[in-house]
Amino acid sequence: PPYRVGVFIGSLASDSINRQLAGALERLAPPELEFHEIVYRELPLYSRDYDADYPQVARDFKAAIQASDALLFVTPEYNRSLPGPLKNAIDWASRPWGQNVLTGRPSAVIGASTGAIGTAVAQQSLRSILSFSNAPQMNSPEAYLQFTPGLIGPDGEVTVESTEEFLATFMRRFLEFTTRVLTVLPRPD
Ligand code: FNR
Repeated sequence: PPYRVGVFIGSLASDSINRQLAGALERLAPPELEFHEIVYRELPLYSRDYDADYPQVARDFKAAIQASDALLFVTPEYNRSLPGPLKNAIDWASRPWGQNVLTGRPSAVIGASTGAIGTAVAQQSLRSILSFSNAPQMNSPEAYLQFTPGLIGPDGEVTVESTEEFLATFMRRFLEFTTRVLTVLPRPD
């Protein structure tokens, strides 16, 4: 440590509740975890036609992942899966064949929804994608948040104490997981 955590925010909405959640997680994370957002909004829709010559925006995107020790996915659920733009970004990260930058990077998944199941189904989709992408995942704790108005204040403060404690624990466990993975496995690149 300190570890650089690349944060994927699964929503492109300007007032995203998942962006708010990411802000709260950054506040609550142990100081050994340094957050930086992995920006993917400018990526074109992936096609393998690009494999022969990745555009600069995709090279920069992959470089940002390579500069990350660990990855945190904070995502909403869209139609019982992860949002298309996030899947598109992961497809870019995974290619060209043999140059998948997700490989070996300790990862965690969390999300907030207005619905009661709190992104559980989206997280299952994302977890199988990360498995195939060979990113070691924190299995536990899981975190499914139902977002209620005011849960997170304007400065990222969590207004419900039990939720705040739970999110702080989640980040502490992610630090432990990241430390364990990076101690046992050689750095991916
Ligand atoms: C949703 N929403 C939603 N919620 C859920 O719990 N399960 C779902 O399958 C869906 N599906 C869905 C599809 C689409 C296209 C949208 C726009 C929304 C509602 C969703 O939880 C809510 O809009 C959140 O505010 C989305 O998170 P962000 O964008 O605010 O971070």
